[in-house]
Amino acid sequence: MRLKLSVLTTILCCIVIAKEAETVGIFSGPQEFCYTDMECGPDSDKWDGFCHSGKRQSPINLKVPYHSPSRYTHLLPLDRFQADHFFIQNNGHTINVDMTPVGENSQFFPGHGLSFTKYKFSNVHFHWGASNSEGSEHQLNSRNFSAEMHLTLRDAINSGDPNALAVVAIFLQVDDSVGPSPALAPLVNAIDQIREPHTHWMKVETPIDLSPLIPMRHDATVYSYQGSLTTPPCNSQVNWYVFGEPVPIWSSDVSAFRGVMDGRDAPLENNRRPVQPMSDRRIEIIKFV
Ligand SMILES: *[C@@H]1O[C@H](CO)[C@@H](O)[C@H](O)[C@H]1NC(C)=O
Repeated sequence: MRLKLSVLTTILCCIVIAKEAETVGIFSGPQEFCYTDMECGPDSDKWDGFCHSGKRQSPINLKVPYHSPSRYTHLLPLDRFQADHFFIQNNGHTINVDMTPVGENSQFFPGHGLSFTKYKFSNVHFHWGASNSEGSEHQLNSRNFSAEMHLTLRDAINSGDPNALAVVAIFLQVDDSVGPSPALAPLVNAIDQIREPHTHWMKVETPIDLSPLIPMRHDATVYSYQGSLTTPPCNSQVNWYVFGEPVPIWSSDVSAFRGVMDGRDAPLENNRRPVQPMSDRRIEIIKFV
C-alpha cells in the first residue's frame, strides 16, 4: 500500500511540477512506454508498476447484453464543463487538457455506488486510433469506437485507497453527418503548437466548453466498475464510469489529433492499451432518471 501511495503521489506531483516548469523537455524515447512497438509496448517492461502484476486492470471489454439497470440515479453534475481558459499538453502519450470548470458542481463528482468518495476534477485526455474504426480503450460488447475521452477525477483527501481516482469515459464515434465540433475546436486549433511532445503545459486564452461532448441526458446509461489507470504504473485505484452512448464527432477533428507526434518521431495514434481480463469483477449499470 505504501508503494502504491508513493507511486501515485509521484504521478500527481509530477503532473503539477510539469505544469509549473518553464523549461521545455522532450521525452527521451527509449525510457518511455509506448503503445505499438515491441520494445516499449504494453507487453514490455516499460509498462512497469502494476501493469503486469495488478488485478482489476483497465480497460476492459464491457460485455453488457441487455440488462436492467442495477441503480437509478440523478444526472451526473457535469453539465457546465466549461472554463474561460485552459492548459494543453502533448506528453507523447496523449493530449492532456487542464481546466477548472466554472460550475461549482462540475468540480465535484460523487462516487455513485462504487464509493462514497467525492472526487475533484483533475484533467481531460484522449485516446484515438490510426483509423476511425478503432481508437477507444474500452470496448462495448466487443465494439471499438473512434476515440475515447477521459475525465480524470481524484479524491484529494485519501489518495492511497482503492477508490482514490475516478475516470468518466466517453466514447467518440466518427459520424460525418455532424460537422466540426465547437467543443473540440479550441483543442484542435491549439494542436499545431503542441505538435512535439513536451513536459510543459501551454496556456490557451480561449474559452472552452466540453459539456456538449458529455452525453448528459435522462435515460443515459453508464457502466461502472473497479479498475486501474490505463498507463504505467497502472495503479488499481480507479473507479470507472463509462457512458454507453457514443458521441458523434467529425472525422477531421480526430485526424487533427493524429497530427501530434509521440516521443519517438512517429505520429501519436493508437494510444490505447489492449483490453484486460475481466476476472471476477462486476459491471454495474447506472441509469439516469
Ligand atoms: C477492436 O480492436 C481490437 C484491437 O485493435 C481488435 O483486435 C478487434 O478485432 C477490434 N474489434 C472489432 C469488433 O473490430
